[in-house]
Amino acid sequence: MIQSTGLKTLVAVLLSVGVAQSSAATREPQYVTLPSLREQLAITDAWRSERIANIPNILKKYDVDAWLISQHEHAEDTVFWSLKRATQFAARRRTLQLFLASPAPGLQSSYSWIDNTPEVWSNLLDVLEAQDARSIVVNVDAEIAFSGGMHAGELVEIQRRVGEKWQSRFVAEPMVGVEVVGTMPRGKEGDRLKWYKGLMETAWAMIGEAFSERVITPGFTTTEDVEWWLRDKVQAMNYTTWFQPDVSIIGKDDFGDPNPSPIQPKNVIHYGDLLHVDFGVTAIGMNTDTQHLAYVLYPGETEKDIPQGFRVGLKKANRLQDIVRENMKIGMTGNAILTKSLEQMKNEGFDGRVYCHPIGDWGHSAGTLIGMFNLQDEVPVLGDLPLLNHTYYSVELYAEHFVPELNKTLNFYLEEDVHWVDGDQWDWVWGRQENFHLIHSKAANQEGFFVQEL
Ligand SMILES: *[C@@H]1O[C@H](CO)[C@@H](O)[C@H](O)[C@H]1NC(C)=O
Ligand SMILES: *[C@@H]1O[C@H](CO)[C@@H](O)[C@H](O)[C@H]1NC(C)=O
Ligand SMILES: *[C@@H]1O[C@H](CO)[C@@H](O)[C@H](O)[C@H]1NC(C)=O
Repeated sequence: MIQSTGLKTLVAVLLSVGVAQSSAATREPQYVTLPSLREQLAITDAWRSERIANIPNILKKYDVDAWLISQHEHAEDTVFWSLKRATQFAARRRTLQLFLASPAPGLQSSYSWIDNTPEVWSNLLDVLEAQDARSIVVNVDAEIAFSGGMHAGELVEIQRRVGEKWQSRFVAEPMVGVEVVGTMPRGKEGDRLKWYKGLMETAWAMIGEAFSERVITPGFTTTEDVEWWLRDKVQAMNYTTWFQPDVSIIGKDDFGDPNPSPIQPKNVIHYGDLLHVDFGVTAIGMNTDTQHLAYVLYPGETEKDIPQGFRVGLKKANRLQDIVRENMKIGMTGNAILTKSLEQMKNEGFDGRVYCHPIGDWGHSAGTLIGMFNLQDEVPVLGDLPLLNHTYYSVELYAEHFVPELNKTLNFYLEEDVHWVDGDQWDWVWGRQENFHLIHSKAANQEGFFVQEL
């Protein structure tokens, strides 16, 4: 990973001097190893059962009688992935699921058929007649992935098969899919959140090691080297991820461009650089999303030598995190939270952007959006949904700050995940960054070799 070609000067071996602490959390993050796949199955299937048991409550909340999901192998509805058992890897044949808000006396509240014969339709029609559902939600939303997962051909076929009577009872209620996927089950003794904290602690540990002299040698290591170090570390821990890690040098790279040039050259990291990482891990059916900042100390420098302008920039970003977190009131729309937060930020005399998203089953999961990178007035459709409780969110944003030392305004990007807690509050899943990760460089080691940048 650390490139050793092109040496102009004899470079001393950099000794690890410990991973920089940059946490509001109380202890150094550790790597959390995962249980066996078999044990993971027991954990995730219990979460699945809890989620399915809650579907009737969600249907009642939105005043609808039933929810019909239909899909084929390799053309699954988006919600399939949140409702499947751990040992299901795809839908099979035609997989139909029907959930009822209040089943007729003596009947079940959920049905599932896996069939490739027309019998599936007579089974469905028998149940619909017996249950006499008046309103049946189908996932046909044009804008929301979690309520728009029914394939176009599937809808045509269902309408043909169920006929006029039942077709006329089909309704669109996008909040059903959104709430089913977005709501985090509690699990046995709250074990889902415990595991989520473990995932987040691991992500922090990985960032802490990546942003240290163990991985970065100024003058040699490129941002791309660090990205691939993270990928390999994720694999070594038996985790996966949901996006390629992004490491950049603030002020030199264009972080945040949704259409980056594919041939963007990756920069070599130098002393004095302000580094940024956007990184997430995936394990046991959950995803994390974190952005942190690091400073590359010049040889002989210590934490007190971090430019004051950088410290103030980080503090502003922390302040914006507080503002957004305080404004995240259950029931408010993402757009209202966005407007209120940006207003407060401007009143406090600084600029920035807010672009928070739900997280959980997906990295970008089901629920309202609080801004998007390029949409700071409002987010159409998704920004108009209400904020739900029992969810996890990524508080993602940046604050602008003029750094006198560089004579330049920089964006201080931060992202930390929060989880909802009783009493309409949000807590950091692991912590939030308040101090820079530091890449230490020694002026000289015991042998007297100098660490010198090319
Ligand atoms: C990853 O999985 C392999 C194979 O099951 C196992 O031997 C190894 O200990 C695991 N590593 C970690 C860090 O959990
Ligand atoms: C929050 O969740 C509870 C279930 O724990 C539910 O009864 C309540 O209606 C929810 N509150 C809001 C405002 O959605
Ligand atoms: C700071 O930057 C501005 C323009 O970006 C330039 O006009 C000015 O001369 C710079 N100041 C110094 C001290 O370099």
